[in-house]
Amino acid sequence: MENSFILKGVFCHTPSRENLEIRENACAVCLDCVCEGLFDEIPERYRGLPLIDCTDRLIVPGMVDLHIHAPQYSFIGTGMDYELLEWLDRMTFPAESRYEDEEYADKAYAFFADKMRRSATTRAVVFGTIHRKSTLTLMEHLENTGIISYVGKVNMDRNAPEYLLEPDARSAAADTRLFLEEVLKRGFERTRPVITPRFAVSCTDELLDELGKISKENALPVQSHLSENPDEVRLVLSLCPSASFYGDVYDQHGLFGRETPCIMAHCVYSTDDEVALMRNNGVFVAHCPASNINLASGIAPVRRYLETGMRVGLGTDVAAGNSESVFRAATDAIQASKLYRLYVDHEAKPLTFPESFYLATKGGGAFFGKVGSFEAGYEFDALVLDDLKEGYGTETAHTVSKKTEVPYNAGPDPCDIKAEQEKHASVRERLEKAFYLELDRTCIVRKFAAGKECAL
Ligand code: GUN
Ligand code: FE
Repeated sequence: MENSFILKGVFCHTPSRENLEIRENACAVCLDCVCEGLFDEIPERYRGLPLIDCTDRLIVPGMVDLHIHAPQYSFIGTGMDYELLEWLDRMTFPAESRYEDEEYADKAYAFFADKMRRSATTRAVVFGTIHRKSTLTLMEHLENTGIISYVGKVNMDRNAPEYLLEPDARSAAADTRLFLEEVLKRGFERTRPVITPRFAVSCTDELLDELGKISKENALPVQSHLSENPDEVRLVLSLCPSASFYGDVYDQHGLFGRETPCIMAHCVYSTDDEVALMRNNGVFVAHCPASNINLASGIAPVRRYLETGMRVGLGTDVAAGNSESVFRAATDAIQASKLYRLYVDHEAKPLTFPESFYLATKGGGAFFGKVGSFEAGYEFDALVLDDLKEGYGTETAHTVSKKTEVPYNAGPDPCDIKAEQEKHASVRERLEKAFYLELDRTCIVRKFAAGKECAL
């Protein structure tokens, strides 16, 4: 059977948000792209499968990025002294207008896809621009990386400069329909379309209505932005007086998870009513901590969302986020949650490392189905990390400390005791280091998405 093999190494995954499971010297069986589970001994029935031996290497599920803007990669790491609305006007809209030029788009998207190929991401939900042809080019480049993605042609028919507006709601919707036809014709295997109103500020009621219909008719998911910044929230409520809260605007047009799956980025200022509706409709929150801090938007109350039973994953939100690394997003999320506790709500427990790992894998992965875990029945997404090569591994630390003189009568070497007592902790330490030190930049040696190996 194609895409069937056994992968051996040190596995780390989170079957639940509290449970970081570490399995040393274990084997994952991938049968026809699907994980059969983790095993200490390979069961008889799988014995004929080829073995990929990565003994002692860390193996984690592929990372899931629920929110990233491909065209914004061109100005990543700049323009961080603005807040959202000014940042859109000064940085984003001018940069996105360049994608009208298909030659530019081809080059810029090739560069972006190359970054994604080398990243820890195996699944991504991506914004393009309003430009249909360029967005199709983006999909072609992403398809070649082997990662699995949803890509949206952006819709906007108000409140932006003329050069980045579609002429009216009807032509914007018609262009989205054309985009979907073109996507079908190209027969992508790994790259799917997603209905993408930029945000309520930049879409008229008529356009949102059309997009709701298109989503429903074609059973296609929806992505947008929600409750990111106080000025933005006020603007939306003044533009849409019939809405009782921001998310209600999307809901009134069938774009809020009732009919089709939906991801909303940010949700920093979601009211209780908004949260309740998202929870009931199964709307995914794409938590984008770096973006929220860079644009001084605020800090999303992730703890509250998890306790409410909402679906939550992570987004890098490049280029308001300054890194495409989901490893980085995971540690940013922990750090942001600590500031939230210190400065916003003393009752809110910070995110733990296992919780953030869960958000980066199984939490966001749920948008794609059974994704983000090595449990049986999950699509086989995996990263193999050669983390020890950087010399940060605890193995190295132990070896070094053993060489140092132990004072007489000092009792057993504490490092030996630690190594003995906390075998699992040492893998746990390697894992934490891999995330906090962003070893995804240098240490990924193999990458699999839905059972298929991706070229690095
Ligand atoms: N809201 C509307 N458009 C955008 C965007 O491109 N980035 C972010 N962070 N928020 C938005
Ligand atoms: Fe965004």
